[in-house]
Parts: sequence; structure tokens; C-alpha cells
Amino acid sequence: MDWEPLVEIATAARERAYAPFSSFRVGSAVAMDDGSIHPGCNVENRSFGATICAERVAVTAAVAHGARRLRAVVVVSGTVPPAPPCGLCLEVLTEFGDPEVPVLLVSTEGARQETTLGELHPHPFDFSKPGTG
Ligand code: THU
Repeated sequence: MDWEPLVEIATAARERAYAPFSSFRVGSAVAMDDGSIHPGCNVENRSFGATICAERVAVTAAVAHGARRLRAVVVVSGTVPPAPPCGLCLEVLTEFGDPEVPVLLVSTEGARQETTLGELHPHPFDFSKPGTG
């Protein structure tokens, strides 16, 4: 897996983060099965709950572009160890990606961790399973 183009795109996207409330900048890049690559950055809001994370910006842009399935995900933050996607983002990423999809967590301080969607989120919500209600 050649991560460098995705890392470059995610790092550049992080520079465009709108994070005046937390000052925590995140960049992301998703590679899709149609060959397209989409950047994302966190976009905060003065109504804090309206904030959207970098990963969801990237994956929703990919879907709007017409792509459907994830091939790879990069997340860039400034912390060591590099920050993993939050639970909301994992739920959205697993909607469009199989458990085997590789995820690279990158710190601008140099640390990197390679993992997978399945490792980060082994039990995504699934309402197709029969319930008791
Ligand atoms: N954030 C992301 O962009 N991705 C995540 O997976 C977790 C958190 C952003 C949201 C907010 O702007 C800032 O990081 C602090 O929570």
C-alpha cells in the first residue's frame, strides 16, 4: 500500500481545518474503489454539536462524488500517539468499508500506526439482526 499520496492529501486538508473552538486540527483522506481520493478536515461550529469531524467530511464528499466503497483511510492529527477516528466516524466509515480496509493513523510529530476498520470498530451497529422487540 503506497500511503504517501493519501498522507500528503490528508496533511494538506488538516491545514484547512476550521477549529477555532478546540484548536484540535484533523485531516483525513479516503481512497475509494473507483480510484477517487477525497480530503476532509474538521469543521467546527459555535453550536458545538454541529461540528463535523474530518473523516465524515471525507467520506460524505466521496459519496456525493458517486463513490461507494472505501479502499483506504488516512487520519492525521497532531497528537502522539495519533488520534483514532471517534465512534461516530467509525460507524459512518464502516457503513462504506469492509473490516479489512486499512487505516493509517498519522501524527504530524512523526508517529504512525497502521490498523483496519475492523480492528478499530469490531461491532458496528446492525439492525438486520433479529431483536427481541
Ligand atoms: N475530530 C475529528 O475531526 N475526528 C475525530 O475522529 C474526532 C474528533 C475533531 C472534532 C473537533 O473539531 C475536534 O476534533 C475536537 O474534538
